[in-house]
Amino acid sequence: MRSIALLILPLMLCAQHDQAPAPGQNPAIKNPAAIAAGAQLYITSCGGCHGPDGIGGRGPNLVRQLQSHQLKDDELFGAIRNGVAGTDMPPTRLSDDDTWKLTAYLRAVTGPAADSKVYGDPGAGEKLYWSPKAGCSECHAILGKGSRMGPDLSNIGGSRPLANIRAAITPPKNDPSRNAALAGKEGVTVTMKNGTVLKGIARNRGNYSLQLVDEKGALHLISMAGVKSLAVLDHSLMPEDYDTRFTPDELTNLLAYLARQTVRQTPAGGK
Ligand code: HEC
Ligand code: HEC
Repeated sequence: MRSIALLILPLMLCAQHDQAPAPGQNPAIKNPAAIAAGAQLYITSCGGCHGPDGIGGRGPNLVRQLQSHQLKDDELFGAIRNGVAGTDMPPTRLSDDDTWKLTAYLRAVTGPAADSKVYGDPGAGEKLYWSPKAGCSECHAILGKGSRMGPDLSNIGGSRPLANIRAAITPPKNDPSRNAALAGKEGVTVTMKNGTVLKGIARNRGNYSLQLVDEKGALHLISMAGVKSLAVLDHSLMPEDYDTRFTPDELTNLLAYLARQTVRQTPAGGK
C-alpha cells in the first residue's frame, strides 16, 4: 500500500498545474509566481551577501559563480539548504517549499535574459541603442549592422543573464572579477618595429602571434617577431559613464531591448 501511495502522490501534484513541469523538475522552476516569491526571500535572506540580482557584494557574484560552477536543480537546492562548509555561506532553515522558490529564482536570474521577465519598453530601448547618445553601434553589431570591433550582440539576450548585460554597461564599482571577465577581449595598443601603431581588441593573444580587431572592425594577424611593444589596457574599452549618461528608465529600456536579442537556429536554408 505504501509504495502505491508514493507513486500516486507526485502525479497528483503535477496534475494541479496546467503546465506540467519537465520530468524530475520541481514545479517551482520556471513558475512566475514561485520566482516572484523567491525574489522576496532572496532580498531578505541572501541579498545582503550576494547583492541585488545576484551581482555580488560581501559574498560572490552568483551569476558568474553559477555559470562557472553549473549546479543541477537539486544541487542548487542542497547548497541553499546546507550552505557551503568552510565558507561564509551559511545553512538556511527555510521550508522545502521556500527553498524551491529560491532555487527557481536563482535559475531565472542566472539563465539567459530572454527567458526571464524584463521590465521597460524595448521599442524605446531600440531607439536609444542606435542613437548617437548611446553610440553602441560604433563598437557592436546586431544582425550584421554596426561595427565588428566589440562582441556581436545579435544573441546577447539568448546567451547572457540580465545581470551580466547590465554589468557590462554599468559595471559595479571595484568589482574584482571584472578583469577576469575581460580576458581575451582586452583593449591593446601595438607598436610595430616599423613604427606602425595599431589599436583595438586582442583576440587569441599567444607567444608568437596576435589577432587584433581594429576600430574599423578589420582583422590584423600580427607576428610577435615584428612587435616592438604591446600595451594592454587594464580597463574595458566600453565607455565608463553610462550610469550618468542614461537615466534609470533609459537603462531599463535599453536592457529590455537587449534582452530580446536572440538568434534562434533556423532550418537549413532559412535566415
Ligand atoms: C553571510 C554571507 C552569505 C549569505 C547570507 C548567503 N551566502 Fe551564499 N555564499 C556565500 C559565500 C561566501 C559563498 C561562496 C562559497 C565558496 O567559496 O564556494 C556562497 C555561495 C553560494 C552559492 C554557490 C554554491 C556553489 O556550490 O557554487 C549559492 C547557490 C548561494 N551562495 C546561494 C545563496 C542563497 C540562495 C542565499 C540566501 C538563502 C545565500 N547564498 C546566503 C555567502 C553568503
Ligand atoms: C568604444 C567601444 C564600445 C562602445 C561605444 C560600446 N561598447 Fe560594449 N563592449 C565593447 C568591448 C570592447 C566589449 C568587450 C570587452 C568588455 O567586456 O568590456 C564590450 C562588451 C559589451 C557587452 C558584453 C558582451 C558579452 O558578450 O558579454 C555588452 C552587453 C555591451 N558591450 C553592450 C554595449 C551597449 C548596450 C553599448 C551602448 C550603450 C555599448 N556596449 C557601447 C566596446 C564598446
